[in-house]
Amino acid sequence: MIKIAVLVSGGGSNLQAILDYKAAGHIPNGEVCLVISSKQGAYALQRAKNHQIDTLVIERRQFSKNEDFCAALKGALQAYQIDLIVLAGFMCILTKEFTDFYAGRIINVHPSLIPSFCGEGYYGLRVHQAALDYGVKVTGATVHFVNEITDGGKILLQRAVEVQEGDTPETLQKRVMEQAEWILLPQAVEMLSDTMEQTKKAGERK
Ligand code: GRF
Repeated sequence: MIKIAVLVSGGGSNLQAILDYKAAGHIPNGEVCLVISSKQGAYALQRAKNHQIDTLVIERRQFSKNEDFCAALKGALQAYQIDLIVLAGFMCILTKEFTDFYAGRIINVHPSLIPSFCGEGYYGLRVHQAALDYGVKVTGATVHFVNEITDGGKILLQRAVEVQEGDTPETLQKRVMEQAEWILLPQAVEMLSDTMEQTKKAGERK
């Protein structure tokens, strides 16, 4: 089994989508073993507890240096022997040391079609506000590998969503979640855990 950790900071609807997909019989080769929140009281923690998943709170503001915060994250992930890290509404920037260490083993979901409306400063409703300000007719979501460049890693999956007349950032956010993020992220987790499990087994046979 591929051991998965989901890193969150907020509501955790993307975490929920992964847990629901697993409960429906998908993600046969992966198991969510740990949820880490960068914020105390994040509703995502409750969602994890409802599924008997271990939780940890590692608050960014408890560390003066990002290096120390990332070292604490890495320590926790190593203690659980985590193979695959999923960023699902995780609002912290990871150091290059961290993303290099976990290269090819961390993914993120971003609520736009990268390379539009992404990078530093593009998070939450700001992404959808920017799409509406620009006047695009189609937006969507992207699941990508994480490297040291914010939203800059290799793209794994993308899905388009229509912008509708009269959309607000809130209505657009909801549609992008329902029609793209909650579908793509669980699929990406399944794909990667399948591939990683195969690689593991091939290694064991050698
Ligand atoms: C999502 O829009 C995700 O794309 C972005 O942050 C939001 C998190 O929502 N990175 P949730 O916590 O999964 O409900």
